[in-house]
Amino acid sequence: MVDLKTTYLGLSLRNPLIVGSSGLTNSIENLIEIEKNGAGAVVLKSLFEEQIHNAASHTIMEDEYANLYPEAEDYIRNYTKENDLAIYLNLIKEAKEKLTVPVIASINCITSSEWISFAKKVENAGADAIELNVAVLPSDPNKTSAQIEQVYFDVATKIVKEVKIPVSIKLSYYFSALANTLVKLSWTDIKGIVLFNRFYTPDFDIESLEIKSSFVFSSPGELGLSLRWVAMLSPHLQCDVSASTGVHTSDAFIKQLLAGATTVQIASVLYKKGFREIGIMLEELENWMIRHNYQTIDDFRGLLSVEKAENPAAFERIQFMKHFSGID
Ligand SMILES: Cc1cc2nc3c(=O)[nH]c(=O)nc-3n(C[C@H](O)[C@H](O)[C@H](O)COP(=O)(O)O)c2cc1C
Repeated sequence: MVDLKTTYLGLSLRNPLIVGSSGLTNSIENLIEIEKNGAGAVVLKSLFEEQIHNAASHTIMEDEYANLYPEAEDYIRNYTKENDLAIYLNLIKEAKEKLTVPVIASINCITSSEWISFAKKVENAGADAIELNVAVLPSDPNKTSAQIEQVYFDVATKIVKEVKIPVSIKLSYYFSALANTLVKLSWTDIKGIVLFNRFYTPDFDIESLEIKSSFVFSSPGELGLSLRWVAMLSPHLQCDVSASTGVHTSDAFIKQLLAGATTVQIASVLYKKGFREIGIMLEELENWMIRHNYQTIDDFRGLLSVEKAENPAAFERIQFMKHFSGID
């Protein structure tokens, strides 16, 4: 018998497969199904800072009364925010009542002030941990990389001081010195780093000349990006690493563990194939471990990371030299 148990953010998980934050983790019915199918933990849908602001502005714009009485605006804004938050807190409470696996709440934050009080409420509602979903698109030509990086450090350090439960941070790869920034983030009290989030990307409709959203779900071909960085950074980060993006099969799941991931998160594959895929991936992991004589995850975790791989130079290679010269 193999043992899939692991520890993530100081929490005990029955296995390292986590269902990542998405619309799938936004209802108690789904969360129960996810647990039944074997997931090691769940990350709830993010509570979005931006979304709450927009929801509040929308209500205000539609309400003539509020326009006539500007002092009502504050009330409506706060009501909408509190209402969204109450629904979210209820989901955490219900999930904690009905599930046995760890429930990780997710907060999307850009400013470091608003969310500090919410993080406390999320903790009080019973969440086992908080995953901060932070993304700043470095699109402002007037901002230096140091200024942008500072936002991440501010968010991380301030919220960590506020709550006792472990906090992880889910990031994009939009950093000019990705390795340096992530290593420094891992020196804060953050307990884990999730590599990487996947974002809305714009596309064009060339008939209507409109901007539209490109495909929302990942494809298996996107695994390489997170695999490279998990393999290169896991030995250097002083916190856990959770791999996210492009994990659609048990092979990809195993590869991320070999790269050094503490846990692996999945979302798109479950939208495409359903929750049964969780059980299938876990069973195939067990079969692979039996074939390779591994008893625990620690027996093989990180074996292909930059520290242990026989050919670490492969991770540094970014040009297709052989392809261009026609040899390969
Ligand atoms: C429909 C959808 C909604 C998502 N919503 C969130 C979210 O609210 N917060 C978050 O941190 N990530 C969100 N994600 C990103 C996923 O958690 C995950 O990081 C990303 O999809 C890459 O993993 P995958 O390749 O397994 O899909 C969402 C992804 C999808 C497809």
